Amino acid sequence: MTTDHSLQAENLTLGYKERVVINDLDLAFPPARITAIVGANACGKSTLLRSMSRLLAPRTGHVLLDGREVHRMPAKELARTLGLLPQSPIAPEGITVADLVGRGRHPHQRMLSRWSAADDVAVAAALDATHTAELADRAVDELSGGQRQRVWIAMALAQQTDVLLLDEPTTFLDVSHQVEVLDLLTDLNRSRGTTIVMVLHDLNLAARYADHLIALADGTVHAAGDPADVLTEDCVRAVFGLDSRVIPDPTSGKPLMLPLGRHHVMPE
Ligand SMILES: Nc1ncnc2c1ncn2[C@@H]1O[C@H](COP(=O)(O)OP(=O)(O)OP(=O)(O)O)[C@@H](O)[C@H]1O
Ligand SMILES: [Mg+2]
Repeated sequence: MTTDHSLQAENLTLGYKERVVINDLDLAFPPARITAIVGANACGKSTLLRSMSRLLAPRTGHVLLDGREVHRMPAKELARTLGLLPQSPIAPEGITVADLVGRGRHPHQRMLSRWSAADDVAVAAALDATHTAELADRAVDELSGGQRQRVWIAMALAQQTDVLLLDEPTTFLDVSHQVEVLDLLTDLNRSRGTTIVMVLHDLNLAARYADHLIALADGTVHAAGDPADVLTEDCVRAVFGLDSRVIPDPTSGKPLMLPLGRHHVMPE
């Protein structure tokens, strides 16, 4: 079985009622690589991810996983290959951490054969990787924002899919947990060839961790490619309307963006 799944959008138009959010978009996520999507608030990043994972039907065009239209695939079959961590997931009231992470195993369970030893192993590994094992018996709605976010990541990991879409996986996390989650996703990519696609607001972490960077603006791709080619001062101005300096990161050489503002400007 290959882990190299192709995931692409063709002529994809998405929207809600009369509002068009994504317009005639063509893009491909490189298999077995890490892709980061960046763009201004409300530009359509979550809308795109929801459609790539079959939750929002296209107005026109297609989302193709290994050449098959995802909107025609049974949900459970798709969920064995592709997992989505949404931006604001909602946990059932009162559910414990262990039970929530266990729900990640649902796509792997057959109608009659229930919970298996493999499910136990997957849940334990996911709790371990996200340092949430000590929270296993706690109720999810009693956790801090950062703890909860790590539990949701654990649920996505427990699903053990070859393709993982994550909508702002680092929100609510302190800086060391942000780096830890991104390191963990990198480990997953390197050890299993998992295709990772994530929306990030931190452009510097996006440039550092992604093999492929996509900047979305005005319902379409403004720039895509190697982060060094995409994250430029011109791109930041065009996509975010912000003046910035982009310098090489002293450790990795990747682009490092320093935002300017009305009170933080270049000296004359
Ligand atoms: N369920 C919905 N019904 C109607 N409009 C929606 C819905 N979800 C999103 N929108 C609108 O679609 C546009 C894109 O929203 P989306 O959530 O995709 O943005 P985003 O790029 O993920 O933004 P953010 O960075 O704030 O998460 C916005 O104008 C938003 O108001
Ligand atoms: Mg969003």
